[in-house]
Amino acid sequence: MKTVRVFAPASIANMGCGFDVMGFALDDVGDILEMTLSDGDGITIVNNTDVPLPEDIEDNVITPVIRKFFSLTGLSGHIDVAVCRKIFPGSGIGSSAASSAAAAFGMNELFGRPLSGEELVVCAMEGENLASGGYHADNAAPALLGGIILIRGYEPLDLVSLPVPDGFFCTVVHPAIVVSTKAARGVLPKAVPMHDAVCQWGNVGGLVAGLFKGDMGLVGRAMKDSVAEPYRKHFIPGFDDLREKVLGAGAIAMNISGSGPSVFALSSELEVARRAGSVMREHFGERDFKCDIYVTKVAACGARLLER
Ligand code: HSE
Repeated sequence: MKTVRVFAPASIANMGCGFDVMGFALDDVGDILEMTLSDGDGITIVNNTDVPLPEDIEDNVITPVIRKFFSLTGLSGHIDVAVCRKIFPGSGIGSSAASSAAAAFGMNELFGRPLSGEELVVCAMEGENLASGGYHADNAAPALLGGIILIRGYEPLDLVSLPVPDGFFCTVVHPAIVVSTKAARGVLPKAVPMHDAVCQWGNVGGLVAGLFKGDMGLVGRAMKDSVAEPYRKHFIPGFDDLREKVLGAGAIAMNISGSGPSVFALSSELEVARRAGSVMREHFGERDFKCDIYVTKVAACGARLLER
């Protein structure tokens, strides 16, 4: 028998313009799993948190990740998983990706690291597909690898780690609203008008260039989303008004985090990031929504082992 204790961080997907192709890992917030390998085969999952999770393992994102690991490696074993810490599902900060990434990383550690980082992302995407009805890696890749990740392509998976400029402070607000990723993907149109596509690819190029140049002004100008946000912002009460106030407080950008309902702002100074948090708290307070606020940085490290 062998047991590992694994942490994988929360993450912010899309970064405004990078729908399904860009995301970054968040410091401190994340999921913790304990995984035990023994003889035989089968999977058990127990939930040691007070966050509600599916009773049936077939509905838990961890299960298809473990199965994908076995099918890619040809290995086998019995796996017991204990969920020890869990981000609330439907929060928009990569809850399903954190569990999926932790499960993929934990499996690799239990079996002596047969898979590469990219192959672990392929495993974790199975969990994302179960949760959202689509294979996307913009939460799972940063949750596994840390930092800011660009998914240059999916077939085959081609991941690019991008530099994190100095002064990249992130304020995340999670209002007490649940928006499932499936629902938020369901409101998106199947085709993008040419004008919106032109804006979007200009912005993705601008964002990548801004990160490489360390030009936070360019980063802020580029973090605009013409593809998903117009259809999703209605899930978030007073979204346009909130953005005006957050930018007025000095933040350089504000966008929906992943599929929402969390919203994040980017600031180049810690003080501004804190101020953006106060604006967000007041905004949702006035509308009678409780909210959690985090002021944080990009996590350089993704999934990792913890002491037991
Ligand atoms: N890129 C995905 C989406 C992220 O926006 O649907 C889900 O967190």
